[in-house]
Amino acid sequence: MPDSRVARRRRYLVCEPRHFAVRYAINPWMHPDRPVDVLLAQRQWRTLVDTYRDHGHTVETVKPEPGLPDMVFAANAAVVVEGRVFGSLFLAPERRPETVAYEAWFKAGGYEVHHPESVCEGEGDLVPAGRWILAGTGFRTTREAHREVQEFFGVPVIGLTLVDPYFYHLDTALFVLDEENVAYYPEAFSPGSREVLARLYPDAVIATREDAMAFGLNSVSDGRHVFISPGAAALAAQLADRGYVPVPVDLSEFHKAGGGIKCCTQEIRS
Ligand code: ARG
Repeated sequence: MPDSRVARRRRYLVCEPRHFAVRYAINPWMHPDRPVDVLLAQRQWRTLVDTYRDHGHTVETVKPEPGLPDMVFAANAAVVVEGRVFGSLFLAPERRPETVAYEAWFKAGGYEVHHPESVCEGEGDLVPAGRWILAGTGFRTTREAHREVQEFFGVPVIGLTLVDPYFYHLDTALFVLDEENVAYYPEAFSPGSREVLARLYPDAVIATREDAMAFGLNSVSDGRHVFISPGAAALAAQLADRGYVPVPVDLSEFHKAGGGIKCCTQEIRS
C-alpha cells in the first residue's frame, strides 16, 4: 500500500494574514479578549505557503483588506469546480464585505462569480469529492444554497447536517483524501448524516474528538501528502498506515479564530 498514493498538482488561493485578529465571536473558538500573536500567525502562514510550493503546488494570493480579520480564511470565499465560481454569502455581517475583495481577484483572472441567494460559505461547507459535492448545513450554509449549488454545477449535492457548534463548517469535521475516500469525525454529524457517510465511505478514516479539536480534519490532501495539524497525531498515524504521507504544518494562532489549514486554502479547480 505505501507508495501507491499519487499526488496531483493543485492550484491554491490564499490570503496573507496581515490584518488577522479575533475582534468578534461567531463560533465557539473565538474569544476577542484573548490575544492573537499576529507575527507568529504570519510566520505560520508563510510556512504553509512554502510547504505547498515545496510539494509542487501553485499558490496564488488575494490582497488582504484592512478591517477584515477573517479574510485569511480563503476557503470560505467561493467553491470553484471546472473553472466555474460559486461565490459566497456570509451569515455574519462582519464577513460579508470579504466577497467584494475575492470577487475582484476572480474577475481579474477572467472568472465570472455566481452570487448565491441564500447563506453559503464556500468550501467551508461545500466540499467537492470526486463524483459529488458534500455539503454541510446546520450552522452556516443553508439547504436552499445546497439546491442552488446542485443547479449551478449540475453535480449531485449530498447534504450533511452538522450538530456540534465547535464543528460549524463541514471542513472542520471532514476532509477529502482523494477521489474515493474521506476522513471525518462522526459525532459532528446528525445520526442520519452519519449513516449517509458510512454508506458512501465504508473505508473512511474515522477521527477521534481529540483529532477534530486539534483541527486535524481541517486538512488539505493532494492525493498523497496530507497537510495536517501536528496536534492530530492519532489521525496522522492512521493516514500513514493507509499509505498517505502526513506533512505537519502548525497553524495554532488561527485556531483561535476557529480556522486551520484548509480554512486558509481555497482550491481553484480548472
Ligand atoms: N472566524 C471564521 C468564521 O467563523 C473562521 C472560518 C474558518 N473557515 C473554515 N473554512 N472553516 O467564519
